[in-house]
Amino acid sequence: MANISGANTRNAAGKPLLGGVALVTGGSRGIGKAIARELAAIGAAVSICGRDEEKLMLAARELESAGTRILARRADVTNEAEIRAFAQATEKELGGITILVNNAGTGGGGFGAIQDKSEAEWDLVMNTNLKSVFFLSRAVIPGMIERRGGDIINISSLAGKNTFAGGGIYCASKWGLQGLSGCMAEDLRAHGIRVSVICPGSVATDFRGRGPKDPSKVLTADDVAHAVCMIATQGPQSFISEVQLRPVAKP
Ligand SMILES: NC(=O)c1ccc[n+]([C@@H]2O[C@H](COP(=O)([O-])OP(=O)(O)OC[C@H]3O[C@@H](n4cnc5c(N)ncnc54)[C@H](OP(=O)(O)O)[C@@H]3O)[C@@H](O)[C@H]2O)c1
Repeated sequence: MANISGANTRNAAGKPLLGGVALVTGGSRGIGKAIARELAAIGAAVSICGRDEEKLMLAARELESAGTRILARRADVTNEAEIRAFAQATEKELGGITILVNNAGTGGGGFGAIQDKSEAEWDLVMNTNLKSVFFLSRAVIPGMIERRGGDIINISSLAGKNTFAGGGIYCASKWGLQGLSGCMAEDLRAHGIRVSVICPGSVATDFRGRGPKDPSKVLTADDVAHAVCMIATQGPQSFISEVQLRPVAKP
């Protein structure tokens, strides 16, 4: 069996990811920030990106104060040159990437029927939620293949499994991500690389979803981070390919 997530096998004081390096896109707030914090708590060095430099640096300081080795860099996931530079800087400063979390995403200008949507909205959502995963994965996979292992965890959505009125562009991006992830998983498993998707329902963040969220009836960002850590610490011979995550309370 290939050395899947080699970092998982090293364990010190409850830190199974010690020696691992996680790149988390959109780690400045919301779900990405919780993922970065939880992966760091179990030992990974973490790099995060986002477009808003101020929020990014705030998040970086918070993570550093908890003792994490961190790299924070302004990078737009829709820009391949910025993404390549970000991935290269991560490997130079923190080491080979063992975990890639494609988390950055957007609902664009909000949900609505497609006849009311513009080409610019289509491009923004598809480029942020889908094309970015292609860019990041192309930047990171060659190193993982060389090292014979790694985890790529794509934050999809239950909107990638279902359809609903007004969700056309967002659902298309997440259904596309489901397809891309499944095919990548087949391409990469022979190299010891697992590609997984997490499909959360509604999560209490700034993300503009279908309407107002009752915080007691939706998921928290920490719930999604917990699922990421579960995948990143699974047994070396197993492959959790998809997690559908729902709140206990019915929305
Ligand atoms: N919240 C939900 O209800 C929910 C449910 C299911 C799935 N999801 C998925 O979970 C992921 C995270 O959502 P969230 O709720 O945490 O959203 P959020 O609170 O709006 O945070 C989005 C994060 O992505 C970053 N980002 C957005 N566009 C970017 C770009 N072009 N380049 C770099 N970074 C970018 C943002 O930073 P900047 O703005 O500074 O760039 C921010 O850090 C998304 O993929 C979303 O589709 C969310």
